[in-house]
Amino acid sequence: MTIDKKLINQIIKVSSKAAYASSLLVGKNDKIAADKAAVDAMRTELNSLDINGKVVIGEGELDEAPMLYIGEALGTKNGPNIDIAVDPVEGTNFAANNLPGALSVISIAEKGNLFHAPETYMNKIAAKVNDKNIVDLDFDIKTNLNNLSQYKNKNLEDLIVCILDRPRHKKIIDEIHNLGAKTKLITDGDVAGALLVTDIKFKVDLFLGIGGGPEGVLAASALDAYGCYFQGRLIFENDNDKKRATDMGIKDHDKKYSLNEIVSGDSIFCATGITSGDLVKGISIKDKKFKSQTLITHKSSNTKEIISKVFDIE
Ligand code: FBP
Repeated sequence: MTIDKKLINQIIKVSSKAAYASSLLVGKNDKIAADKAAVDAMRTELNSLDINGKVVIGEGELDEAPMLYIGEALGTKNGPNIDIAVDPVEGTNFAANNLPGALSVISIAEKGNLFHAPETYMNKIAAKVNDKNIVDLDFDIKTNLNNLSQYKNKNLEDLIVCILDRPRHKKIIDEIHNLGAKTKLITDGDVAGALLVTDIKFKVDLFLGIGGGPEGVLAASALDAYGCYFQGRLIFENDNDKKRATDMGIKDHDKKYSLNEIVSGDSIFCATGITSGDLVKGISIKDKKFKSQTLITHKSSNTKEIISKVFDIE
């Protein structure tokens, strides 16, 4: 079974409307307002689609978030059963502070094919390699970099690792530098960070480190279309996190998930720019119209492209 290609344009519209709504609040130092605008727009658009949708990755769980919560039903119900992962504003700091790289992100897959997880951290690794055992979450940094240097036929000194700039990563970052390789430190936005491995133009060989679990699932869906390698392992900070995971059917709390255990079958991924960044340009507004740029992938039709669209401002 595949997802109908006609949904591509509809999902681009969903992330574009969310990005536009949020763009109106860019630079107002209000993360919550920028996020809420995108959530509301995304929800309205998704509810107009002929799908029988369910949020599997969303803005928290029912008790924490009024909309787009995990388990929320979306769509007219006249259509295919679809699982939906959303991050209406990925990089809320970027949006609030008018910095590059804020995105509206959504991924859809056939029911049962997207990982269903509570909001916890995830340790992740991604690279554009086809073989197993080149990079692995369980290898140390030295092994990962040495293997990658051989695989890519590049000097270790020329390898660039993208990682969130966080105190929790200090040891890894120091190790990368001590080995002679380079880092690209990002302050936020690790969906985009992971996707930098997809194309040599971004000059990133390896993405790794701990970031949001939902962001890991979203990135995995695009990385699948690009034929990249990805692994993730959820990180639970306390017993309550573990219980929520158990309630969602996750029995093995230490499990290392391969890409296709996180997303399988067909999927569509859309990331629309709110502010311009490495992947796409942000929203521009002119004459009662807005223009969006979206990175879109559709696994079954091997679509991986950046699409610009103009919409009327209603
Ligand atoms: P938000 O847009 O939800 O603020 O997330 C931004 C982000 O940088 C993600 O891209 C990343 O996965 C996560 O935060 C990292 O979390 P933390 O800031 O707690 O290290």
